[in-house]
Amino acid sequence: MLDVNKVSKIYEGKIPYRALTDIDLTIEKGEFVGIMGPSGSGKTTLLNMVATIDEPTTGEILIDGKNPHSLKKDALAKFRRRELGFVFQDFNLLHTLTVEENIVLPLTLDGHQVSEMKQKAGAIAEKLGITNIMKKRTYEISGGQMQRAAIARAMIHQPKLLLADEPTGNLDSKASKDVMEMLESINRELQTTMMLVTHEPLAASYCNRVVFIQDGRFYSEIHRGDNRQAFFQKIIDTLSLLGGNANDLSSIRV
Ligand SMILES: Nc1ncnc2c1ncn2[C@@H]1O[C@H](COP(=O)(O)OP(=O)(O)O)[C@@H](O)[C@H]1O
Ligand SMILES: [Mg+2]
Repeated sequence: MLDVNKVSKIYEGKIPYRALTDIDLTIEKGEFVGIMGPSGSGKTTLLNMVATIDEPTTGEILIDGKNPHSLKKDALAKFRRRELGFVFQDFNLLHTLTVEENIVLPLTLDGHQVSEMKQKAGAIAEKLGITNIMKKRTYEISGGQMQRAAIARAMIHQPKLLLADEPTGNLDSKASKDVMEMLESINRELQTTMMLVTHEPLAASYCNRVVFIQDGRFYSEIHRGDNRQAFFQKIIDTLSLLGGNANDLSSIRV
């Protein structure tokens, strides 16, 4: 589904900065993969290149066998809109719209029928437990509900690949768990391939596999198996070996 081949990223500037070096990563269809590493290790850089928001300096990224970075601007915009779904830390909802209007936004851009959009929005909202807030505006709902609305919006066109950057970063522990359980069940039921960037061990423990990066290089990877608690502990152990900012561990909660 996703092939990252020897990708490096150098941010040009007065002082060029090498953010990633020779990253190889393959994600199979239906897999749910977490990317972890200390603050500044290059997680967001990697995700943004997969998201086609930014381009690798060297190396190649293939999504479903195609290199989106070789597409022209319009084709790339269409690719991004149709094949990818995005979830961010700060939800990125439009505050002048209702939850329902936010959720159907990607379809509006593609010119779908209103009745079809409402039906799709209703179905995904039910899955995410937000049916009762569809007519509310974003300032009337909680952070957890905002993130679930954002996930509904990201999923409404059934993307091949869902990309999430610190989706629980602004949520308390209860809401984080809810959001991660939603992502896990979407992954299981719809077989949506997912890539999650997080520095939170709890969030990462919902993945099938976690890849660790350090200073922009691959460090190690671990697989979940069927015990999430044991996986959570392994994640914490790996992070402590990895070092980095002690603050990164301040958000631990089981
Ligand atoms: N647009 C940019 N220009 C220059 N340096 C950047 C830019 N974006 C990120 N960086 C640097 O690249 C490194 C990796 O950043 P990032 O991918 O955001 O890390 P993470 O998400 O793991 O915290 C950091 O040192 C950061 O300061
Ligand atoms: Mg980041």
